[in-house]
Amino acid sequence: MAKTLEEVIAEIKNRLDIVDVVSEQVILKKNGGRYWGLCPFHKEKTPSFSVNPQLGIYKCFGCGAGGDALSFIMKTKNIEFMDLIKELAQKYGIEMPTNFQKQNVSKNLRNEMISACEKAAMYYHDLLIHQTSDEIKAANNYLTNRSISREIIDKFTLGIAPKAYTTLYDILKKDFSDEVLEKAGLVLPSKEGKGYIDRFRGRIIIPIQNENGDYVAFGARALYKDQNPKYLNSSDSLIYNKSKLLYGLYTAKEAIKEEDGVILMEGYFDVISAQAHGIENAVAACGTALTPDHIKLLSRYTKSRRIYLSFDTDSAGQKATNRGATIIREAFEGLGDIKQFDESYISTSNDKYSCEIRVISPPEGKDPDEFIRTVGAESFKKIIKNAPLLIDFQVNNFLKHKKDYKTPQEKTKYIKEFLPVLLEIHNEIIRTEYVKMVADALNIDEEALENEIRKISSTNTSVAPQQEIKKIVTKNVSVSEKAQKNLLSVFLVSDSPFTFTQISEMIDNSHFSNETLINVKSTIDKLICTVNNVKELIEQLYTAYIENPEIQQVLTDLIGIAETFTNLSQEDFQSVIDENIRRIRRCKWEEEKEKMRNLYKNADEDETEALKIQMQIRDKINNRIKSEKIND
Ligand code: UTP
Ligand code: MN
Repeated sequence: MAKTLEEVIAEIKNRLDIVDVVSEQVILKKNGGRYWGLCPFHKEKTPSFSVNPQLGIYKCFGCGAGGDALSFIMKTKNIEFMDLIKELAQKYGIEMPTNFQKQNVSKNLRNEMISACEKAAMYYHDLLIHQTSDEIKAANNYLTNRSISREIIDKFTLGIAPKAYTTLYDILKKDFSDEVLEKAGLVLPSKEGKGYIDRFRGRIIIPIQNENGDYVAFGARALYKDQNPKYLNSSDSLIYNKSKLLYGLYTAKEAIKEEDGVILMEGYFDVISAQAHGIENAVAACGTALTPDHIKLLSRYTKSRRIYLSFDTDSAGQKATNRGATIIREAFEGLGDIKQFDESYISTSNDKYSCEIRVISPPEGKDPDEFIRTVGAESFKKIIKNAPLLIDFQVNNFLKHKKDYKTPQEKTKYIKEFLPVLLEIHNEIIRTEYVKMVADALNIDEEALENEIRKISSTNTSVAPQQEIKKIVTKNVSVSEKAQKNLLSVFLVSDSPFTFTQISEMIDNSHFSNETLINVKSTIDKLICTVNNVKELIEQLYTAYIENPEIQQVLTDLIGIAETFTNLSQEDFQSVIDENIRRIRRCKWEEEKEKMRNLYKNADEDETEALKIQMQIRDKINNRIKSEKIND
């Protein structure tokens, strides 16, 4: 029997891991029982965004955003709740209730596009290995000359797009609409305005798979001289976002995890050569510059965030190395220092560093592909093993040119360019070592160099450490509202010494005057009859208000408050409840007094009315005194 919607949602929630979900968008670092990162919902340089895996929720202490895994995906991907549920149900193979089975249009289009790309990849591949036309022979020769074996051709589904105009279109139009083929970037409307032509012609085809192995795009290398550009790449589409996808990741995933490191290369064929020769943890951006999103993607697979930059050895490649390092720094900014020293006396724990950047710069060959083919994979592996940390690479590079700088002026100018590298080193001991090294090499005064660095670093507004995260109180809630929130949050304390029923008996509906809180309280009342623990209660609450981000925000607040009430003895827990009830009463009383005072003031002219109010005030005071006596 098909499941109910509630059952489907519960099952999906069961499968979602908040840390995994958030890690797709945010680089997280474990600290205590929580994970911290830079908030994706507001701009910040110090992490105030936290994930609590025990409760399955996230919360930003900076902007107040918070929720569970589902609401995180909804917010970051800007997707409606039901669409998300349908998508995840499909992903996990959970059957939707019959009345929800209609698929939405964009989902269908995506699937069709992926299916068209897959068909195209297989078709191009088939042509390369089975056809014997001169053109295809030439392609095979080209690959043989590049030492690409049949095995490699199969592993990467390499193919050939013949020169003719409609080879692919003629085949795929039988199964796909023109719209799907055009949107997938496989065909273009012909210039004459009649029909379509293939986008890739006369090229070696390199199919691009996303993380899940779906075929989503293509890189296509020129086969002939004077053919421009050298590589023609698919444009971004509904199924392909270059800045968030890395070539080779699908096949490299396991190796990246196993090696706890990833090698970033520049070209498709660098990755193909590396992976084909047992260096399986290599990936590359697809004809685009490295982005922080690429780095986020990678950091999900490597615990220690060890990233090797293995770019071309020419000067353009070296610039790319520096740019790459900058992008990596940017992506990890605020999460701690980049590993800058190999000695274990600093720390052996990976947690100490935000990431580790190493540089692979072989002495021969223009790129990894050429090096592996001419010198060999074993030598490349040795170079990986001995790859210097970024800082050492930079210092070496710097010192390599020291002979060119002789006069004090030249030296000063050169040092100025290099200062930012030294400034990156936050550990004083390590920095002193490097300063000594650089000063020695250039034959300048060490103290003067250190002074120069100090001058600059004191004007730099360095990033505050994580410990200094301050809770920014965004709203100035009135005392009563605050007390009401405290009181309601008592239901959400994970290790509460009381059962839900016991708490429920202590907390009366009449204590709440804030509309949202009344609303939440009534939902809690309903839910506590069915849930088994606080985690479930929180899950159900987020689901109940999934379409209401404002109330979700309040929930997050409440959970935050509840966390401050953990580890309390029965007695202390009770006094939290009592104290807040007292505060609410006091506020209510103040409010009433204020109201009365106003009435009394307005009744100035009317003596009987004024007298009546006076009596009312006296009654109230009497009641108040009585109730205080009972409650205290
Ligand atoms: P390279 O020019 O270094 O090419 O570009 P390569 O990888 O060494 O290729 P081969 O060995 O000559 O075949 C590196 C990467 O830059 C992108 C591609 O992703 C390529 O792999 N690129 C380069 C383009 O997207 N378009 C181009 O025209 C050139
Ligand atoms: Mn290259």
